[in-house]
Amino acid sequence: MDMDHAHTLSLPNGDVVKKPFLIGVAGGTASGKSTVCKKIMTELGQTDMDHTQRQVVTISQDSFYRELTAAEKAKAFQGLYNFDHPDAFDEQLMYDTLEAILKGVKVEIPGYDYKTNSLDYENKLTIYPADVVLFEGILVFYFPKIRDLFHMKLFVDTDSDTRLARRVPRDINERGRDLDAVLTQYMTFVKPAFEEFCSPTKKFADVIIPRGADNTVAIDLIVQHIRDLLNSQSSSRKGSSSNIQINMNVD
Ligand code: CTP
Repeated sequence: MDMDHAHTLSLPNGDVVKKPFLIGVAGGTASGKSTVCKKIMTELGQTDMDHTQRQVVTISQDSFYRELTAAEKAKAFQGLYNFDHPDAFDEQLMYDTLEAILKGVKVEIPGYDYKTNSLDYENKLTIYPADVVLFEGILVFYFPKIRDLFHMKLFVDTDSDTRLARRVPRDINERGRDLDAVLTQYMTFVKPAFEEFCSPTKKFADVIIPRGADNTVAIDLIVQHIRDLLNSQSSSRKGSSSNIQINMNVD
């Protein structure tokens, strides 16, 4: 397995290699992807499975932003860098990392620091072979090779006014931005890129979640479905060398 300082991969020690159930969670900025993932994680954690056997983790696509040059960083501080274009992400690293996760390999992923617009290696997330891995981000269904890796695809569909109303205070209060830069970035890059690259990927979703995390009925149904799948797959997955293949269309 390739080694990389940011996404260190190492072979698992145990004989039993778990084959994770990989869920993609896409949606526009501030649609509530993180909250939906948190709710799914919490609800899945309440199952009566042996706690040491179960792991549910969420990874953010932001951990796969390309490192910026000094000139790009200067632009980013003024809201003049396009973080919403597919080219802003390291597609190959994303693919290799998800492939490794699917093979049951332990993976380390950096965090992301929005204040400095850079990857955060001080706050790495270690993904051990897990039962369920959620991968959330604006463009997780954009790249065909990556899209094909998911066992289940969710699209969080929240109205754009609501998303903007959430994004502005979040960027100012949590991401250290000023109002002018936030609005410039939104109008120049975030909104057009959503329409061009993110919104069209809704058609690839198995389940579209209207109103995002407020939609507890949808989240409960999804969680119940994941539980059923995990229960029915668990015996064949343990110790098996092949990835689980589940073809789901919940229309
Ligand atoms: N972004 C940014 N500055 C960076 C990196 C990313 O402003 N240095 C912005 C991009 O413009 C993009 C957004 O971050 O639109 C992606 O994060 P978002 O999806 O809004 O946040 P999540 O917490 O992943 O999702 P949600 O709000 O739906 O939970």
